[in-house]
Amino acid sequence: MTNPHTVRKRSFVAAAMMSAALAATMVLPDLALAQSPIVIKFSHVVADKTPKGQGALKFKELAEKKLPGKVEVQVFPSSQLFGDAKELEALLLGDVQFIAPSLSKFDRYTKKIQVFDLPFLFDDLDAVDRFQNSAAGQGLLTSMTSRGLLGLAYWHNGMKQLSTNKDKLQRPEDVKGLKFRIQASDVLEAQFRALDANPQKMAFAEVYQALQTGVVDGQENTWSNIYSQKFFEVQKTIAETNHGVIDYMVVTNAKWWDGLPADVRKGLSEAMAEATTYANKLANDINEADRKRIADAGKAKIQKLTKDDLAAWRKAMEPMWKKFEGGIGRDLIDAALKANK
Ligand code: SIN
Repeated sequence: MTNPHTVRKRSFVAAAMMSAALAATMVLPDLALAQSPIVIKFSHVVADKTPKGQGALKFKELAEKKLPGKVEVQVFPSSQLFGDAKELEALLLGDVQFIAPSLSKFDRYTKKIQVFDLPFLFDDLDAVDRFQNSAAGQGLLTSMTSRGLLGLAYWHNGMKQLSTNKDKLQRPEDVKGLKFRIQASDVLEAQFRALDANPQKMAFAEVYQALQTGVVDGQENTWSNIYSQKFFEVQKTIAETNHGVIDYMVVTNAKWWDGLPADVRKGLSEAMAEATTYANKLANDINEADRKRIADAGKAKIQKLTKDDLAAWRKAMEPMWKKFEGGIGRDLIDAALKANK
């Protein structure tokens, strides 16, 4: 006969084992969660071998080194995850944690950022760099937090050149009536209208095909983008106008960023600062090398412009400064001009 004492003891042991098992199932997922890295998706639209592509890869390397086991950064280049029409929405929805759109693509969020699109405002990329590092430039990083976007850094690409499928591209009158692909920016739209051309807003991933099939005749971009997207293969002339800038703001979802553990936020900030220095040092060299590659390929002619030509382009485009001054603010335009030295 079974001893009732033994039965009580067995049931006690069984109950204890069950509650231990129950406790384990309740605790284990938490442990598992605590141990699994925070996955950070960094989506962008250009190729890996561009200034932005290199910056994103460097950020991944540094963030994972500084925060081992705590973060995993997944980089998605070339519009693989989101094209530039969707990436800002995806960031706000939490589908991606970092993006670095060109500055021209923020004008839905703040008019102030249109300062970067004003043609011939900056003499060169060094001037852009000085402005971005000034108090006025740094202030723009937090100018969109009420819309959920926090800027963490500026990354350079370079100055824009103008290209078309025509042999002659030297003076503003040469683009009259031509169709140009532009980024989603009202300043750029007005800039091409001032040239009596027809601007068409279009996502970056669609530009090559639009140029190839003649949906548009031309576009404006940096040497690096013209090379890496092979635009030079479907354009006849690239005029060296340096009339504007394509740079980036690396942005994150402000709410997500604030909710990160403090040590993770600190590590990511440090990784971002170092990746920024790295990428910004590379930008000029990449653009110069890509300019040479385009020249060597001999497919599109690179049209050098005289001082007189450049003055004519400037005269045709400069009215944009006054036209957009109301939204941007005279103070920001002056701060940008001061950066020219
Ligand atoms: C980019 O460099 O991110 C894209 C620029 C463009 O849309 O032309």
